[in-house]
Amino acid sequence: MSLYSFLTNNIIVNNILIALKVDAEKELSAGHWKVFTYNPEKTIQQNAGFSHKEEVEESLKIVKEKLKSTLAAYCRPKASVLDFGCGPGIYMDMLKEQYNVVGVDVSEGMLEHASRLLPTHKFYHGNFLKIPIQETFQAIYSISVLEYVPVSQITRFFEKCAALLEPGGIIFIQYPHALQKLDLYYPDRNYINYSPERITALASKHFNVIENKQSFDGRDTCRYDKTPYPTDSKTFKNGYLLIARKK
Ligand SMILES: C[S@@+](CC[C@H](N)C(=O)[O-])C[C@H]1O[C@@H](n2cnc3c(N)ncnc32)[C@H](O)[C@@H]1O
Repeated sequence: MSLYSFLTNNIIVNNILIALKVDAEKELSAGHWKVFTYNPEKTIQQNAGFSHKEEVEESLKIVKEKLKSTLAAYCRPKASVLDFGCGPGIYMDMLKEQYNVVGVDVSEGMLEHASRLLPTHKFYHGNFLKIPIQETFQAIYSISVLEYVPVSQITRFFEKCAALLEPGGIIFIQYPHALQKLDLYYPDRNYINYSPERITALASKHFNVIENKQSFDGRDTCRYDKTPYPTDSKTFKNGYLLIARKK
Protein backbone atom coordinates (compact mmCIF):
# COMPACT_ATOMS: atom_id res chain seq x y z
CA MET A 1 0.00 0.00 0.00
CA SER A 2 1.40 3.43 -0.93
CA LEU A 3 1.76 6.22 1.64
CA TYR A 4 -0.92 8.18 -0.25
CA SER A 5 -3.50 5.38 -0.05
CA PHE A 6 -2.62 4.72 3.59
CA LEU A 7 -3.23 8.41 4.42
CA THR A 8 -6.47 8.67 2.43
CA ASN A 9 -7.97 5.23 3.06
CA ASN A 10 -7.78 4.37 6.76
CA ILE A 11 -10.16 3.77 9.65
CA ILE A 12 -10.37 7.43 10.72
CA VAL A 13 -10.80 8.96 7.24
CA ASN A 14 -13.22 6.24 6.17
CA ASN A 15 -15.47 6.61 9.21
CA ILE A 16 -15.66 10.37 8.65
CA LEU A 17 -16.52 9.84 4.97
CA ILE A 18 -19.14 7.23 5.92
CA ALA A 19 -20.71 9.54 8.53
CA LEU A 20 -20.90 12.32 5.92
CA LYS A 21 -22.16 9.80 3.29
CA VAL A 22 -19.38 10.94 0.96
CA ASP A 23 -18.38 7.31 0.35
CA ALA A 24 -21.61 6.87 -1.63
CA GLU A 25 -21.84 10.26 -3.33
CA LYS A 26 -18.45 9.95 -4.93
CA GLU A 27 -19.00 6.26 -5.75
CA LEU A 28 -15.66 5.60 -4.11
CA SER A 29 -16.05 1.81 -4.10
CA ALA A 30 -17.69 1.18 -7.49
CA GLY A 31 -15.57 3.89 -9.15
CA HIS A 32 -12.66 1.72 -10.21
CA TRP A 33 -14.97 -0.74 -11.97
CA LYS A 34 -16.16 2.05 -14.25
CA VAL A 35 -12.74 2.20 -15.87
CA PHE A 36 -12.30 -1.57 -16.10
CA THR A 37 -11.19 -2.88 -19.51
CA TYR A 38 -11.79 -6.52 -20.45
CA ASN A 39 -8.50 -8.31 -21.14
CA PRO A 40 -8.99 -10.87 -23.97
CA GLU A 41 -5.72 -12.59 -23.02
CA LYS A 42 -7.22 -13.65 -19.71
CA THR A 43 -10.10 -16.08 -19.16
CA ILE A 44 -13.60 -14.83 -18.42
CA GLN A 45 -13.15 -15.98 -14.80
CA GLN A 46 -9.89 -14.06 -14.42
CA ASN A 47 -11.54 -10.95 -15.87
CA ALA A 48 -14.28 -11.36 -13.26
CA GLY A 49 -11.52 -11.22 -10.63
CA PHE A 50 -10.94 -14.91 -9.81
CA SER A 51 -7.88 -17.04 -10.45
CA HIS A 52 -7.98 -20.70 -11.47
CA LYS A 53 -6.23 -21.94 -8.32
CA GLU A 54 -7.64 -25.24 -7.13
CA GLU A 55 -9.11 -23.78 -3.94
CA VAL A 56 -10.77 -20.94 -5.86
CA GLU A 57 -12.29 -23.40 -8.34
CA GLU A 58 -13.43 -25.57 -5.45
CA SER A 59 -15.14 -22.67 -3.65
CA LEU A 60 -16.72 -21.25 -6.82
CA LYS A 61 -18.15 -24.69 -7.62
CA ILE A 62 -19.92 -24.81 -4.25
CA VAL A 63 -21.42 -21.34 -4.76
CA LYS A 64 -22.59 -22.20 -8.29
CA GLU A 65 -24.28 -25.44 -7.17
CA LYS A 66 -25.91 -23.67 -4.22
CA LEU A 67 -27.19 -20.88 -6.50
CA LYS A 68 -28.71 -23.42 -8.89
CA SER A 69 -30.38 -25.44 -6.11
CA THR A 70 -31.66 -22.31 -4.31
CA LEU A 71 -33.23 -20.88 -7.47
CA ALA A 72 -34.71 -24.29 -8.31
CA ALA A 73 -36.29 -24.43 -4.83
CA TYR A 74 -37.77 -20.90 -4.77
CA CYS A 75 -38.34 -19.78 -8.38
CA ARG A 76 -40.73 -20.79 -11.13
CA PRO A 77 -39.16 -22.01 -14.39
CA LYS A 78 -38.48 -18.97 -16.63
CA ALA A 79 -38.94 -16.55 -13.69
CA SER A 80 -37.24 -13.16 -13.97
CA VAL A 81 -34.05 -13.11 -11.94
CA LEU A 82 -31.61 -10.20 -11.49
CA ASP A 83 -27.83 -10.60 -11.35
CA PHE A 84 -26.48 -7.63 -9.35
CA GLY A 85 -22.91 -6.96 -10.52
CA CYS A 86 -23.21 -9.50 -13.34
CA GLY A 87 -19.66 -8.79 -14.53
CA PRO A 88 -18.78 -10.62 -17.77
CA GLY A 89 -21.90 -12.82 -17.51
CA ILE A 90 -20.60 -16.13 -16.09
CA TYR A 91 -23.62 -16.76 -13.86
CA MET A 92 -26.18 -15.43 -16.33
CA ASP A 93 -24.76 -17.83 -18.93
CA MET A 94 -25.04 -20.70 -16.44
CA LEU A 95 -28.73 -19.92 -15.72
CA LYS A 96 -29.94 -18.67 -19.10
CA GLU A 97 -31.89 -21.83 -20.08
CA GLN A 98 -33.87 -22.02 -16.83
CA TYR A 99 -34.64 -18.33 -16.11
CA ASN A 100 -35.10 -14.94 -17.69
CA VAL A 101 -31.87 -13.54 -16.25
CA VAL A 102 -31.33 -9.77 -16.34
CA GLY A 103 -27.95 -8.23 -15.54
CA VAL A 104 -26.94 -4.96 -13.93
CA ASP A 105 -23.38 -3.69 -13.77
CA VAL A 106 -21.63 -0.36 -13.38
CA SER A 107 -18.79 -1.38 -15.72
CA GLU A 108 -19.15 -0.81 -19.46
CA GLY A 109 -16.18 -3.14 -20.09
CA MET A 110 -17.89 -5.99 -18.22
CA LEU A 111 -21.24 -5.38 -19.92
CA GLU A 112 -19.68 -5.31 -23.40
CA HIS A 113 -18.43 -8.84 -22.80
CA ALA A 114 -21.63 -10.04 -21.12
CA SER A 115 -23.81 -8.75 -23.96
CA ARG A 116 -21.59 -10.45 -26.56
CA LEU A 117 -22.03 -13.72 -24.63
CA LEU A 118 -25.78 -13.20 -24.11
CA PRO A 119 -26.90 -11.02 -27.06
CA THR A 120 -30.65 -11.37 -26.45
CA HIS A 121 -30.54 -10.67 -22.71
CA LYS A 122 -31.44 -7.43 -20.99
CA PHE A 123 -28.80 -5.44 -19.14
CA TYR A 124 -28.93 -2.29 -17.05
CA HIS A 125 -25.78 -0.19 -17.14
CA GLY A 126 -25.09 1.81 -13.98
CA ASN A 127 -24.81 1.83 -10.25
CA PHE A 128 -27.51 -0.53 -8.93
CA LEU A 129 -28.06 1.74 -5.93
CA LYS A 130 -28.83 4.74 -8.13
CA ILE A 131 -30.43 3.68 -11.40
CA PRO A 132 -34.18 3.17 -11.81
CA ILE A 133 -35.20 -0.42 -12.57
CA GLN A 134 -38.82 -0.63 -13.67
CA GLU A 135 -39.58 -4.31 -13.27
CA THR A 136 -39.76 -6.92 -10.53
CA PHE A 137 -37.97 -10.21 -10.01
CA GLN A 138 -38.45 -13.51 -8.23
CA ALA A 139 -34.83 -13.55 -7.15
CA ILE A 140 -31.84 -11.22 -6.95
CA TYR A 141 -28.43 -12.82 -6.69
CA SER A 142 -24.98 -11.37 -6.40
CA ILE A 143 -21.55 -12.98 -6.34
CA SER A 144 -18.70 -11.00 -4.82
CA VAL A 145 -20.20 -7.52 -5.21
CA LEU A 146 -21.44 -6.55 -1.73
CA GLU A 147 -17.88 -5.52 -0.80
CA TYR A 148 -18.28 -2.59 -3.22
CA VAL A 149 -21.55 -1.37 -1.70
CA PRO A 150 -20.63 1.71 0.35
CA VAL A 151 -21.26 1.42 4.08
CA SER A 152 -23.58 4.43 4.09
CA GLN A 153 -25.69 2.68 1.40
CA ILE A 154 -25.93 -0.82 2.83
CA THR A 155 -29.36 -0.20 4.41
CA ARG A 156 -30.59 1.23 1.11
CA PHE A 157 -29.21 -1.84 -0.69
CA PHE A 158 -31.53 -4.20 1.20
CA GLU A 159 -34.45 -1.76 0.81
CA LYS A 160 -33.90 -1.65 -2.95
CA CYS A 161 -33.66 -5.45 -3.22
CA ALA A 162 -36.93 -5.80 -1.29
CA ALA A 163 -38.63 -3.18 -3.49
CA LEU A 164 -37.57 -4.99 -6.68
CA LEU A 165 -38.72 -8.42 -5.51
CA GLU A 166 -42.14 -9.99 -5.95
CA PRO A 167 -43.84 -11.19 -2.75
CA GLY A 168 -41.89 -14.15 -1.38
CA GLY A 169 -38.93 -13.35 -3.65
CA ILE A 170 -35.44 -14.26 -2.51
CA ILE A 171 -31.96 -12.77 -2.31
CA PHE A 172 -28.82 -14.88 -2.66
CA ILE A 173 -25.81 -12.75 -1.73
CA GLN A 174 -22.29 -14.15 -1.67
CA TYR A 175 -19.85 -11.75 0.00
CA PRO A 176 -16.43 -11.59 1.64
CA HIS A 177 -17.11 -11.40 5.36
CA ALA A 178 -15.15 -9.78 8.21
CA LEU A 179 -12.03 -11.86 8.85
CA GLN A 180 -10.75 -9.94 11.86
CA LYS A 181 -12.00 -7.44 14.42
CA LEU A 182 -10.33 -4.60 12.51
CA ASP A 183 -12.63 -5.24 9.50
CA LEU A 184 -15.61 -4.13 11.61
CA TYR A 185 -14.20 -0.57 11.50
CA TYR A 186 -13.74 -0.33 7.69
CA PRO A 187 -9.96 -0.13 7.16
CA ASP A 188 -10.44 -0.27 3.35
CA ARG A 189 -13.42 1.58 1.93
CA ASN A 190 -12.84 0.11 -1.56
CA TYR A 191 -13.34 -3.45 -0.32
CA ILE A 192 -15.61 -3.84 2.67
CA ASN A 193 -15.63 -7.09 4.61
CA TYR A 194 -19.07 -6.82 6.18
CA SER A 195 -19.83 -8.45 9.50
CA PRO A 196 -22.22 -11.42 9.07
CA GLU A 197 -24.04 -10.37 12.25
CA ARG A 198 -24.67 -6.88 10.81
CA ILE A 199 -25.80 -8.31 7.47
CA THR A 200 -28.32 -10.59 9.22
CA ALA A 201 -29.64 -7.64 11.26
CA LEU A 202 -30.01 -5.38 8.21
CA ALA A 203 -31.53 -8.04 5.96
CA SER A 204 -34.00 -9.02 8.70
CA LYS A 205 -35.82 -5.68 8.35
CA HIS A 206 -37.22 -6.79 4.98
CA PHE A 207 -36.43 -10.50 4.77
CA ASN A 208 -36.74 -13.75 6.68
CA VAL A 209 -33.16 -14.97 6.73
CA ILE A 210 -33.01 -18.59 5.58
CA GLU A 211 -29.27 -18.85 6.14
CA ASN A 212 -26.21 -16.61 6.51
CA LYS A 213 -23.19 -18.90 6.72
CA GLN A 214 -19.63 -19.44 5.55
CA SER A 215 -20.15 -20.31 1.88
CA PHE A 216 -17.32 -22.87 1.68
CA ASP A 217 -17.67 -24.81 4.91
CA GLY A 218 -21.08 -23.79 6.28
CA ARG A 219 -19.72 -22.38 9.56
CA ASP A 220 -21.61 -19.70 11.47
CA THR A 221 -19.14 -17.05 12.61
CA CYS A 222 -21.21 -14.13 14.07
CA ARG A 223 -19.38 -10.75 14.12
CA TYR A 224 -16.19 -11.84 12.39
CA ASP A 225 -14.40 -15.04 11.46
CA LYS A 226 -12.10 -16.24 14.19
CA THR A 227 -10.70 -19.07 12.05
CA PRO A 228 -10.46 -17.72 8.51
CA TYR A 229 -8.55 -19.54 5.78
CA PRO A 230 -5.02 -18.13 5.42
CA THR A 231 -5.16 -14.92 3.40
CA ASP A 232 -1.57 -14.51 2.21
CA SER A 233 -2.80 -15.64 -1.18
CA LYS A 234 -6.34 -14.34 -1.39
CA THR A 235 -8.73 -17.25 -1.22
CA PHE A 236 -12.37 -17.34 -2.24
CA LYS A 237 -12.83 -19.85 0.59
CA ASN A 238 -13.22 -16.78 2.81
CA GLY A 239 -16.76 -15.98 1.76
CA TYR A 240 -20.21 -15.84 3.24
CA LEU A 241 -23.59 -16.60 1.77
CA LEU A 242 -26.86 -14.94 2.69
CA ILE A 243 -30.11 -16.49 1.48
CA ALA A 244 -33.26 -14.68 2.57
CA ARG A 245 -36.91 -14.45 1.58
CA LYS A 246 -38.91 -11.23 1.33
CA LYS A 247 -41.37 -10.84 4.21
C1 LIG B 1 -15.63 -9.09 -8.55
S1 LIG B 1 -16.64 -8.66 -9.91
C2 LIG B 1 -17.78 -10.05 -9.88
C3 LIG B 1 -18.52 -10.22 -11.19
C4 LIG B 1 -19.52 -11.40 -11.21
N1 LIG B 1 -20.50 -11.29 -10.15
C5 LIG B 1 -18.81 -12.72 -11.12
O1 LIG B 1 -18.67 -13.23 -9.99
O2 LIG B 1 -18.39 -13.24 -12.15
C6 LIG B 1 -17.65 -7.34 -9.22
C7 LIG B 1 -18.63 -6.72 -10.23
O3 LIG B 1 -19.53 -5.86 -9.54
C8 LIG B 1 -19.74 -4.69 -10.31
N2 LIG B 1 -20.21 -3.62 -9.41
C9 LIG B 1 -19.57 -3.14 -8.31
N3 LIG B 1 -20.32 -2.20 -7.70
C10 LIG B 1 -21.47 -2.08 -8.43
C11 LIG B 1 -22.65 -1.28 -8.31
N4 LIG B 1 -22.81 -0.41 -7.32
N5 LIG B 1 -23.63 -1.43 -9.25
C12 LIG B 1 -23.50 -2.32 -10.27
N6 LIG B 1 -22.40 -3.10 -10.43
C13 LIG B 1 -21.41 -3.00 -9.52
C14 LIG B 1 -18.39 -4.45 -10.96
O4 LIG B 1 -18.47 -3.63 -12.08
C15 LIG B 1 -17.95 -5.87 -11.29
O5 LIG B 1 -18.38 -6.27 -12.56
